[in-house]
Amino acid sequence: MNEVLNVIRERRSVRKFLDVQLSDEDINTIIEAGIHAPSGHNAQSVWYTVIQNKDLINYISRKSKEEMCKSDVDWIKRFGSSERYHLLHHAPTVIVVSANNDAYSPIEDCSAAVENMLLAAKSIGISSVWVGLSKYFFKLEESNTLLHIKDGFEPHYAICFGYEDVEKKYPKPTRNYEVIDWIK
Ligand SMILES: Cc1cc2nc3c(=O)[nH]c(=O)nc-3n(C[C@H](O)[C@H](O)[C@H](O)COP(=O)(O)O)c2cc1C
Repeated sequence: MNEVLNVIRERRSVRKFLDVQLSDEDINTIIEAGIHAPSGHNAQSVWYTVIQNKDLINYISRKSKEEMCKSDVDWIKRFGSSERYHLLHHAPTVIVVSANNDAYSPIEDCSAAVENMLLAAKSIGISSVWVGLSKYFFKLEESNTLLHIKDGFEPHYAICFGYEDVEKKYPKPTRNYEVIDWIK
């Protein structure tokens, strides 16, 4: 199987990372893959904020969890109140993707960039997980200042990157192939 298809099939979310930082070179490689993603009307609206400050990463987790505790959705409330749960899985590097609000399709642009980054990371031996629950932090007024979000931009997702802690393996989801309809 060719390498691209192999990486697509083998990528799985990882939520246990070694306490080892990634090189700037590898992070640039991952972001470059994001920059090469398609974007609606070629807006190239995505901005990348690389966070490697542990205090900030822990703060984002703590504040998000406080907000999640207020949710009406049971499982979100449960995660919010769990002491063991860390929103960003103690990852050494977190990249927040923001997009220009005036772009044609900001969320889709971010999503395309994120998937490219997950696959690029996997291809160079770096694990990742896409964190949508970061929206609980992004809705706080202080978030744009703390994350240096530019005027007119909105953060949409946080992505955790790091080396997988292989000692802490857990079952990874398989795929349902009963999802295809053909109209010929
Ligand atoms: C939009 C989106 C939001 C997600 N948010 C979270 C999240 O907040 N926390 C988390 O641990 N995983 C999150 N994930 C990862 C999914 O749980 C994961 O992709 C799914 O369980 C399938 O597992 P796999 O990535 O290993 O194939 C998110 C994935 C997507 C696409």
